[in-house]
Amino acid sequence: MSLKIFPKKKNTAAEIVCDLSLINKTDLANIKRTLNEFGMVYFRNQNLNSKQYLSFAKKIGKPALYPRLKGLNKKFPEITVVQRKKKDKGPSFGEQFHTDSSYTKKPPTFTMLFSKLVPRKGLANTEFSSQYLAYENLPKKYKTQINKLSGTFSSKGPIAITTVERVKEKGKLNKELKANHKLVKTIGKKKSIYFSAGHFIGFNSRQNRKLNELKKYLKKHQIKKKFQFSLEWEKNQLAIWDNRSMLHQATPFNGNRIMHRITIK
Ligand SMILES: [Fe+2]
Repeated sequence: MSLKIFPKKKNTAAEIVCDLSLINKTDLANIKRTLNEFGMVYFRNQNLNSKQYLSFAKKIGKPALYPRLKGLNKKFPEITVVQRKKKDKGPSFGEQFHTDSSYTKKPPTFTMLFSKLVPRKGLANTEFSSQYLAYENLPKKYKTQINKLSGTFSSKGPIAITTVERVKEKGKLNKELKANHKLVKTIGKKKSIYFSAGHFIGFNSRQNRKLNELKKYLKKHQIKKKFQFSLEWEKNQLAIWDNRSMLHQATPFNGNRIMHRITIK
């Protein structure tokens, strides 16, 4: 099968046209290459059952278990359900730019979302911000500075509020998780900013207080509109992104939505 690849807005993402239940080795290599190049790829009209979805995920890498929510069922513990109900009040799950599980020592390399139930197209997008582009466009003085820095990320950072509804309902109540990470990731020949304001709680430096200006700058810079791509969801659409180079957030909406999520180690 031959794939068709359509780069989106200033190479912030790519749509891949194919049937994921029929891909061969060459197709898979193409998908992986495209994912590395753009940081986020998506596929429309995929009629996959949970077994086929998981089987495709395993071709991308080894699925991880999400530490904060339970799995779909006993058969598919790797698939977690990200659900928004019409009656839900408050922010949606992940409604602030972040990178997944940065409060763990080894955050997932990739996250996959597969839409099972969605509101009207364009109403409940996921927004992405390319941290390849954010790094490329960083002023030199900040580039030099962040290349030497690492920081602490916590599950009780500012974004924690968005998980309250779901964790209360079906999840595990974990104690605070914390991890340290370098603020610049090197992926192949590219560099990206690894900074997730929703989880970030401080630089690992004696200079921490003096770095407030840098923190403020990064927070604004990394989500400039020119680095962003807004993904409109349709039913049976599958998106994969690289957590090392993409920030993402849910847009606020009222309605019912069910996504099946798999994270890859
Ligand atoms: Fe997320």
